[in-house]
Amino acid sequence: MIKSSGLEKVKTAVFISGKGSNLKNLIRYSKKKTSPIIIKLIISNSQKSKGLKYSKQFNIKKNVINFKKRQIAEIKILKLLNENKINFICLAGFMKILSKSFIKKFKGKIVNIHPSLLPKYKGLNTHKKVLENKEKFTGCTVHYVNSKLDSGKIILQTKVKIKKTDSVKTLSAKVLLQEHKLYPAAINKIFN
Ligand code: GRF
Repeated sequence: MIKSSGLEKVKTAVFISGKGSNLKNLIRYSKKKTSPIIIKLIISNSQKSKGLKYSKQFNIKKNVINFKKRQIAEIKILKLLNENKINFICLAGFMKILSKSFIKKFKGKIVNIHPSLLPKYKGLNTHKKVLENKEKFTGCTVHYVNSKLDSGKIILQTKVKIKKTDSVKTLSAKVLLQEHKLYPAAINKIFN
């Protein structure tokens, strides 16, 4: 567990793979006076990640790392994290699984957002699965990252009611809206 000194914001990296709506939301949040974090680095495993555009828009360094060989990718990332004095990592739609040894090096300093009420529906296609199982509620979870997928200690969760008329599209939009409130709230909880 880390605490901000109160004087200096915690230098943070956000790892993405796709659209980056959570990244954009975290950047906005980090610019508030009261935010404990400052986003110094964006990492993506794909040049195609739409979210990379926020690097230019908000003047934040970005790096695309090829994950074909994870060990090499992680060595490169560790170097970048060191160079940029990063002390906290937010995974936001990052689709690669980090190795045990990488997670160990940043123990208690990596968090993730997942679009389900963990421990239910770990892994991919959560909205499809909850609809297939006729669940009445779903939601989102911010949790610490440990070596098991979507299994680290839960920091905060938000519940979302499922309507009979919901589709994967409507549900993911509803949950995403809540994700954008939950991630900053979870970060506040960690550092305050
Ligand atoms: C979110 O639903 C997040 O919970 C999941 O992937 C999605 C990423 O969305 N892990 P975005 O790239 O932040 O828009």
